[in-house]
Amino acid sequence: MTANVSLIRFQVHGDDRGSLIALENGHNLPFDVKRVYYIFGTKADVPRGFHAHRRLKQVLVAMSGSVTVKTEHNGKIETHLLNRSDEGLLIEGLVWREMHDFSPDCVLLVLADEYYNESDYIRDYELFKKEESR
Ligand code: TYD
Repeated sequence: MTANVSLIRFQVHGDDRGSLIALENGHNLPFDVKRVYYIFGTKADVPRGFHAHRRLKQVLVAMSGSVTVKTEHNGKIETHLLNRSDEGLLIEGLVWREMHDFSPDCVLLVLADEYYNESDYIRDYELFKKEESR
């Protein structure tokens, strides 16, 4: 499977009462969501992630606050500052990911196309590089 990292901008329905974003399978989300989780109560100096997934597709949205997501695939290293609730980072396939510099108020929403499955994880960086070069 080809690995891919890209940004998706969501349409905001806003008026003087505030803003609303709707996420719909197959419309503004490029997969059907099976699992939703969120990360919060993080610490600025404590990074997370440090793994790749073999097949999982995910969209990450900073619902509040900010986080820097570092990705690597096919030798291409990128950093993405997530600090908008109308922007999602789509990560598909064999991509190494790390999350750094969480702001104290960060709530990071993650939408995924599969249930939690430890066998889809690669937690060893050298193994990731080996699988990537296959
Ligand atoms: P972990 O993979 O360490 O989080 P991160 O990717 O942010 O480094 O997951 C933390 C714990 O939560 C670990 O015990 C596994 C569990 N977990 C679930 O039970 N379901 C899930 O969907 C996820 C993502 C994690």
